[in-house]
Amino acid sequence: MDLMQTTADADALMRRAAILLDAGRAGAARPLLAAARRLAPPGAGLAQLSARLALQDGTIEQAAGDLDEAVSLAPDNAELRKIRAELRQRLGDLEGATRDAAEAVILNPPDPVAKALLGVLMQQLGRPQEGAACLREAVAMRPGEPSFHEALANAQSAAGDTDAALATLLGGIAAVPTAVELRNAAVLQCIRRRDFAQAEQVCEAARVAGIADACTFGLRGHALSSLGRHIDAADAYAAALKLGPDDPYVRHLAAASGYVAGSDRAPDDYLRTVFDGYADRFESHLVSLGYRVPGTMRKALLAHPRVAAGKRVGPVLDLGCGTGLIALALSDLPLGPITGVDLSGRMLAEAAAKGLYAELRETDLMTVLSEESQRWPLILAADVLCYFGALDAVFAAVHARLEPGGWFVLSVEELLPHHDGTVPGNGDWALLRQGRYAHSRGYLTRMAAAADLTINRLDPEAVRYEADTPVAGFLAVLERTRHDG
Ligand SMILES: C[S@@+](CC[C@H](N)C(=O)[O-])C[C@H]1O[C@@H](n2cnc3c(N)ncnc32)[C@H](O)[C@@H]1O
Repeated sequence: MDLMQTTADADALMRRAAILLDAGRAGAARPLLAAARRLAPPGAGLAQLSARLALQDGTIEQAAGDLDEAVSLAPDNAELRKIRAELRQRLGDLEGATRDAAEAVILNPPDPVAKALLGVLMQQLGRPQEGAACLREAVAMRPGEPSFHEALANAQSAAGDTDAALATLLGGIAAVPTAVELRNAAVLQCIRRRDFAQAEQVCEAARVAGIADACTFGLRGHALSSLGRHIDAADAYAAALKLGPDDPYVRHLAAASGYVAGSDRAPDDYLRTVFDGYADRFESHLVSLGYRVPGTMRKALLAHPRVAAGKRVGPVLDLGCGTGLIALALSDLPLGPITGVDLSGRMLAEAAAKGLYAELRETDLMTVLSEESQRWPLILAADVLCYFGALDAVFAAVHARLEPGGWFVLSVEELLPHHDGTVPGNGDWALLRQGRYAHSRGYLTRMAAAADLTINRLDPEAVRYEADTPVAGFLAVLERTRHDG
């Protein structure tokens, strides 16, 4: 009788703890679970709740242990499989996560959440078509769940079917008109397809329906400015700033539109948002733009006296390495080992997959340059200084990290006058509408001299093409001046 009463108490505590965990109240659930553990013998239910608590607390190792125990006690429990799939996904074990998600689907076929999870994992494993098939079933089972529509559109887009992705998002908006995230995803999809007119229409429909947030207006500003409607774009940014005054993405694009005074570099949060969301398409997009910097950098490095003599130069620091296109372009030269630095975890994941970097660091490049003491014979900055306006701090920090005689090879976009002859920005650099900075030759020359860097080369080089027109830029080879005669 005592034992039955005790178990009943433990069950009540666990039910209450589950409700608190559903509400994200880990702190309140913790003492209830501790009490339940004292009252009841270990079991799958308790282990599952402990794992959920550990997941909310961020104590992943603990959660993994609890879940392994729970699954071994109840291998046919679909809920446990789902939770372990999510945990393994967070730990980067995509194969293991997919096995668990597939098991959860087999154990409970009518569960749309398990289907959707399996679909997302398939896509992450590089099997977007199979992922889309699972997600289509999940959407059919539960059409009112916005995240399923969004995940299906992502899988379709990853499979290269952007028409289907847009259709899915528009269908999702029809099914769940209140889901602002679906409206924003649809606008983004239109922007990626460079269909700015449709992007603007989707934004307008969202505004009329009253289902628009700061992001919707920010994206609308982007679409309008791409359509050349700069005054309307400024209005859209004004609306975005009113709704999200602290949103770094909106602030930076608003600054680029000239609506608010800009800062002298792009904010980290803005860069992470842009590049994390861009990582999977980055390379195909740059190829379509005829991105030239890796090739011109490679050419410049062939002229390095040691490289020309067949001798190795290294280690090499690749600032803003992105998906690793520079390491790829240099892979047949005697350069390395290469360390890459980038703010965007998703870009770094793409770089890691190339297997060309000895080390990858997810941090601001200024952190590496200013807080570490290692000296490098070669530092590269390909298409990354376009996220800095003022260059004095970067150049000084690079100087401090270069070995005497070390090379700093960089690209920038050129600051060009408007058609009426006026020069944007302060004449040295300006933040342009797409959120990137451009620099003048005179400014680069002055900054190099101020940082005691000798200019070996400062040549005009197109960085890429836009609408079949070359985007003017410079490729510079700067050398840390030797003062040893
Ligand atoms: C246009 S991509 C260029 C990537 C690569 N260098 C290439 O040429 O393919 C710019 C990259 O710089 C990164 N980035 C921009 N500012 C940064 C900063 N302050 N610190 C670290 N990474 C930065 C972005 O996250 C992005 O991956």
